[in-house]
Amino acid sequence: MGVSTAIVLLVAFFAAVNGCPPSDREALLALRSWLKEPYLGIFDSWEGTDCCSNWYGISCDPTTRRVTDVSLRGESEDPILQKTGRSGSGFMSGSINPSICKLDHLTTLIIADWKGISWEIPQCLASLPNLRVLDLIGNSLSGKIPQQIGNLQKLTVLNLADNKLSGEIPSSLVQLSSLKHLDLSNNLLTGEIPANFGNLKMLSRALLSRNQLTGNIPSSIGNMYRLADLDLSLNKLSGRIPEQLGTMRVLSTLNLDSNMIKGEIPSVLLANTGLGILNLSRNALEGNIPDVFGPKSYYMALDLSFNNLKGPVPKSISSAKYIGHLDMSHNHLCGPIPLGSPFDRLEASSFNSNDCLCGNPLKTC
Ligand SMILES: *[C@@H]1O[C@H](CO)[C@@H](O)[C@H](O)[C@H]1NC(C)=O
Repeated sequence: MGVSTAIVLLVAFFAAVNGCPPSDREALLALRSWLKEPYLGIFDSWEGTDCCSNWYGISCDPTTRRVTDVSLRGESEDPILQKTGRSGSGFMSGSINPSICKLDHLTTLIIADWKGISWEIPQCLASLPNLRVLDLIGNSLSGKIPQQIGNLQKLTVLNLADNKLSGEIPSSLVQLSSLKHLDLSNNLLTGEIPANFGNLKMLSRALLSRNQLTGNIPSSIGNMYRLADLDLSLNKLSGRIPEQLGTMRVLSTLNLDSNMIKGEIPSVLLANTGLGILNLSRNALEGNIPDVFGPKSYYMALDLSFNNLKGPVPKSISSAKYIGHLDMSHNHLCGPIPLGSPFDRLEASSFNSNDCLCGNPLKTC
C-alpha cells in the first residue's frame, strides 16, 4: 500500500482510539442545540470530532471512550466560571433534550444552577442503567419526576431541588436501593410521602422541604438507620410525629417546622441524645413538653415556637450538656422559668407570647 493510504489508515486508527464514538458526539451536539448559554460561552469548546478531549464538562471512560460524565454547573468554584468575573454565576435557557439518553454509559449527569433551563426532565433518563449522580438543582424544570426513576439501581445522588416540578413523588422512588442523598426541596410536589419511604435503607439525607406534601409522616422512616438529616419543613403534612423518629441512632437534624402536625411531642424524640437540631415550630403540637432532657442532651437549636404547647418549661433542660438556640415562644406555657444554664443567658424572645410564664428573662413571678 502507498504511503498516503497508510497515513489515512493511521489517522483513522488514532481517531478510533482517541475520539469519542460519533453517536455520543451527535447526542451531545443535539443536547447543545436545545440549550442557550449566551454569557460564558462554555459550549465554544464543544468543537472537533473528539468529544472526550477538551469539551467543557465532558469526561469519557479511558478504555471504551464512551461519554461517562456530563457536568455543567452554572454556579460553582469552577475556575473557568470564576475567571469570567461573573462571580461564578451563569445563566442558561432552553431544555434538556431526550437525546441525552443515547449516552447509555453515562454515570454522572449534572446540569445545575443555570436558573433558566425549563421544560420537563426527559422520562428516558430512568433507562440509563449506570447513572449514579443525577443533579439538576436550580433550574426551572417543570412537569413530573420520571415515573420509572426507581429503575436506576446504581443511583446514589438525586438532586432535583429548586425547580418547578409538580405531581407526586413517584412510587418507584423507594426502590432506589443505592440512594444516599435525596433532595427534592423547593418544588411544587403534591400528594403523600410514600408509606414505604423507609425502604431507602442507604439514605443519609432526605430533603423534601418547601413543597405541598400532605398526609402523615410515614413511620417506616424509623427504619432508615443511616438517616442523619431529615427535612420535611414547609409542607402541609398532618397527623402525629411517629414515635419511631425518636429511636433513630444517627439522626442529628430533624426539621418538621411549618406543617400542620398535631398531637404531643413524643418523649423519646426529645430524649434522643443524637439530635442536635430539632425544629418543630409552626405546627399544631399540643400537651406538655416532655421533661426528659439529661446530661447527654446537646441541642444546637431546639425550636418549639408557634404551637399549642401548655404546662411548664421542663426543669430537666437545665441538666442538658448544651442548649444553644432555644425557642418556646408563642405557645400556652405557664409557670416559673427554671434557673441556671441555659436560662441565664437566653433572651425574653425565647419565651414571649405564652399564657403565664414568669421569671428571668421575663418579669419576676
Ligand atoms: C424553625 O422553623 C421556623 C419556621 O419554618 C423558622 O422561622 C425558624 O427560623 C426555624 N428555627 C431555627 C432555629 O432554625
